[in-house]
Amino acid sequence: MCGIVGYIGKRQAAPVILDGLERLEYRGYDSAGIAVQHEGAIQVAKATGRLEALYHLTRGGTTLLGTSGIGHTRWATHGVPNDVNAHPHTNEHGTIAVVQNGIIENYIALRERLKSKGYTFVSETDTEVVAHLLDYYYQGDARKAIIQVLQHIEGSYALGIQFADQPEAIFGVRKGCPLIIGLGDGETFMASDVTAVLKHTRRVMYPGELEIAELGTEGVQLFTTDEEPVTREVSEVAWDISAAEKGGYEHFMLKEMMEQPKVVRDTLSPHIRDGRIEIEELKISDEDLARVNRVFFVACGSAYHTGVTAKYIFESLARLRVETDLASEFIYRDPLLDKDDLVVVISQSGETADTKEALKMAREAGCRVLAIVNVVGSSIAREADFVMYTMAGPEIAVATTKAYSAQLIDLYLLAMKFASARGYLHGRKLKSMMEDLAKLPEQIELMLNSREKIQRIANRFIAARDVFFIGRGIDYAISLEGSLKLKEISYIHSEAYAAGELKHGTIALLEEGSLVAAVSTQPSLHAKLLSNIKEVKARGAVVLGVTTMGNREIEQESDFCVTLPETNPLFANSLAIIPLQMLAYYIAVGRGCDVDKPRNLAKSVTVE
Ligand code: F6R
Repeated sequence: MCGIVGYIGKRQAAPVILDGLERLEYRGYDSAGIAVQHEGAIQVAKATGRLEALYHLTRGGTTLLGTSGIGHTRWATHGVPNDVNAHPHTNEHGTIAVVQNGIIENYIALRERLKSKGYTFVSETDTEVVAHLLDYYYQGDARKAIIQVLQHIEGSYALGIQFADQPEAIFGVRKGCPLIIGLGDGETFMASDVTAVLKHTRRVMYPGELEIAELGTEGVQLFTTDEEPVTREVSEVAWDISAAEKGGYEHFMLKEMMEQPKVVRDTLSPHIRDGRIEIEELKISDEDLARVNRVFFVACGSAYHTGVTAKYIFESLARLRVETDLASEFIYRDPLLDKDDLVVVISQSGETADTKEALKMAREAGCRVLAIVNVVGSSIAREADFVMYTMAGPEIAVATTKAYSAQLIDLYLLAMKFASARGYLHGRKLKSMMEDLAKLPEQIELMLNSREKIQRIANRFIAARDVFFIGRGIDYAISLEGSLKLKEISYIHSEAYAAGELKHGTIALLEEGSLVAAVSTQPSLHAKLLSNIKEVKARGAVVLGVTTMGNREIEQESDFCVTLPETNPLFANSLAIIPLQMLAYYIAVGRGCDVDKPRNLAKSVTVE
């Protein structure tokens, strides 16, 4: 989704802003632009396509003079990606510039009203109305004009604003979309996320909804729409800039896959104390946990797949009623929620619009909401009752890998906590599960070290047209994620099926040579999956088996087989997903795809 960067300080603004925008590239975009204030005028440069085009146009920003400005990477929603629709947008005289992330929902009505007052529009975007509205209200007092505009626009947005005649300030405001403030030494930044400012400062502030930020060289002032000043705490970001760089790897995705042992260890370790699971963030007593009636897992995409996994684990281990929902369905299906239900929302970015809406709905229904989130200070983290962070560090590749693995860990811990509180997990069983958890980082490392084998297999399927992933129970959840990874980065059509469903229709799609990845990590289901493998082989499919070491029959029946170290079957997803991530990665690389920034996708989906 769109990215915003703003800068005011003593340095030339444009190169700093371009560098920040580069760090937001991973969010996904199709055009970019920048506005800089200099000697009472605003200069704007925009270019369609990758940031290199904007670099080229402005010679790395050096042709734009001035020490304050705003920049934007646009992921098209209203109007095709072109130079005119790219942000910043300005008023007719070019004296007010605006960048926006999100959607102004009532822009059509506003545009008509402004047109009737003589304003002309050049772009198809919703954002341009903000520039003209500001123009309409601006009488030399920027704060007042912004407040009036906020009273008229509807939707979820983050805005960066600059006035030609206000050299001492740039402005930012957010409602439902992210915007952080970075505090440097004699310079201040705003950005859609911290990775854009980490190179300059780790001191950040998170403005609340509709709090207007006035940035100057000496810091920031926040105020409400009633012009009341607001104080927000300054946080020190723990992430290191190197965590947001490739560090010698060809792609962020490969680097992030390789980081998984560490991420899993870092996510586990704060919760293991004296052989017991501690989740301090979940401020619910064991007695209260035991009284929870139902747990809902609500999320989108890969995060939803961890929720599908969690359903199997919670039901089997904690004997608890569980529902797992896609956030985009949950919010429109009128679910029956009551105050004894716990709703767990799962999100890497903490900004996904549908997941945020689900959180809001659950809170309004009186449920307690636990968020499993990676980005500190994100909207979901702020709005939930409790937050369990995943310790994945910044995830830059659009396709999630390490955050997914970290989410699984938080969910295992949560399931075990519930199971203990409900009296289903103690003594030897608890001890053995704790031991298996502790072994996961090393076992993941082992899987990562066998990547050459996966690469060889991947090379055979670079030209595949359709790939099917099948599994039962948790293996079905793993298949969903394996399939999503492959299709999103390699653009190969791929589907995941609960293996038992194949013969109810899908098996008709199989042709001689179709690749079927068959996941079998659950001992109680091996025999069933073996039958499914035989069925697909009988129709000419080539089978890649992913199974636990020593499962000879599946190994023999598969054309290729990846074996996994032994673990508790409930944790198998953490191991089985590694070769499937690698398979997707190497196939995509072999096909020459832009692995880190797949077409049409955005890292953080801040619109419904
Ligand atoms: C796929 C992927 C997406 C996200 C989904 C939710 O690789 O990354 O499917 O999982 O968009 O995003 P978050 O977790 O930020 O809510």
